[in-house]
Amino acid sequence: LASTDVDLSPIAVGQAITVVWRGKPVFVRHRTPEEIQVARDTPLTALKDPATDASRVEKAEWLVVVGVCTHLGCVPLGQKPTDVKGDYNGWFCPCHGSHYDTSGRIRQGPAPLNLAVPGYSFTSDTQIRIG
Ligand code: FES
Repeated sequence: LASTDVDLSPIAVGQAITVVWRGKPVFVRHRTPEEIQVARDTPLTALKDPATDASRVEKAEWLVVVGVCTHLGCVPLGQKPTDVKGDYNGWFCPCHGSHYDTSGRIRQGPAPLNLAVPGYSFTSDTQIRIG
């Protein structure tokens, strides 16, 4: 199956890029210390699909998630600086109003599950291979 290599070095703290992997958008976000802290501090009891932030990342600075809403498959907003990011500063799906947090976890709205984390690994300090 096809894998996708992503060079992380051009992505500044606070920025995100979208790459395509197996025909799907994958969001790669270089999280800020604040985004990481909020994600870590969220109690599991506040989550519809409970998962620790640590279980969803390889390195805390880098969040990698499939950019497909787990409700009916729209692509959530939140990648561009001008996008609305929803009430939890992650992503907002405009189709039916699902809000995801800075770990890509569903926090509000009809989506049942967190944004999926694809299989990936670091092939160097600044490169990942998805798939
Ligand atoms: Fe995202 Fe329905 S497809 S909220």
